[in-house]
Amino acid sequence: MEPLKSLNHIAKALVVSDKGLLAIDESIPTMGKRFAPHGVENHLDNRQDYRENILSTPGLSEFISGTILFDETIRQKAHNGIPMAEFLGEKGIIPGIKVDRGLKDFPGFPGEKYTQGLDELATRLDEYRELGARFTKWRAVITIGEGIPTSTTIETSARSLAMFAAMSQAAGLVPVVEPEVLMTGNHTLERYELVSAITLKTVFGLLADHRVELEGMLLKTGMVLSGDSCNVQADTHSIAAATLRCLLRTVPASVPGILFLSGGQSEAEATRNLNAICRLGGAPWALSISFGRALQATALATWKGKPENAGAAQSALLNRARLNSLAMQGKYSEEMDTLIE
Ligand code: 13P
Repeated sequence: MEPLKSLNHIAKALVVSDKGLLAIDESIPTMGKRFAPHGVENHLDNRQDYRENILSTPGLSEFISGTILFDETIRQKAHNGIPMAEFLGEKGIIPGIKVDRGLKDFPGFPGEKYTQGLDELATRLDEYRELGARFTKWRAVITIGEGIPTSTTIETSARSLAMFAAMSQAAGLVPVVEPEVLMTGNHTLERYELVSAITLKTVFGLLADHRVELEGMLLKTGMVLSGDSCNVQADTHSIAAATLRCLLRTVPASVPGILFLSGGQSEAEATRNLNAICRLGGAPWALSISFGRALQATALATWKGKPENAGAAQSALLNRARLNSLAMQGKYSEEMDTLIE
């Protein structure tokens, strides 16, 4: 297949109707933060046991098209000796990989971050493709606060995303371009919408400059929300309307799909907001998810590091994946969550 056709084919398979991505690509320190409240020690065996159990959930591919792995996981073999990417492929789940190397304080710009990992990226991409990855993810973070974000940080983040995307496509891997505007802070929904719009406009400008083929990529972004400490919390309808308006104004229709991250929302909140956005209709791209916390929170709290809870953790994950699949069709209602709890 011609390279762009093949990228487009994978991108479309990832956003095939009513399925989403599971982001299970937490770095080692982030995994420590996720495990700590449940008294689970952050060591290699626990990370492998937890992730392999989640990824082995029977029936997962009914709702999950692909999964974003961390470097450690894609190098592992499942307990039956099959390399992880192949193990997923056999289950009908497309393996992907987080390729950025995390955030650093941006010198000269207090309160802001840049993403590291462009050095030797081309070599790493070739290796990941050999290991079985079919798509990649790079996360940039934009923080809202007094006097921030600065245009320098937005441009630097967008430039790195564009470099990453061009390099991924050159390596035959579909880039998932993730500029996350954080929900942390006391900003209003309106400010969040404005910052998201400026960020996305800058990102798509630089993607064009770097000759990234939009048909062969996916956008991963946050919903437009009120800051988590804002006094006035926007209602679901306002969140949905602001999110879709912002995306319609900034994301070209040739992008095959937009994946929402959950960004710190609870599982029910993220599903409710997704449902409201999808119900609005009129989006030229497929709308889907790439949730980390909002798919895994109950599963992890159920597992607690105990082998006897493995099956119950899988059921919790499958339930969450099913509810989000219903939300993509605009068919979720909050009673579905209450009924289960
Ligand atoms: P959350 O859904 O927990 O925000 O994680 C998604 C993700 O992969 C962030 O890069």
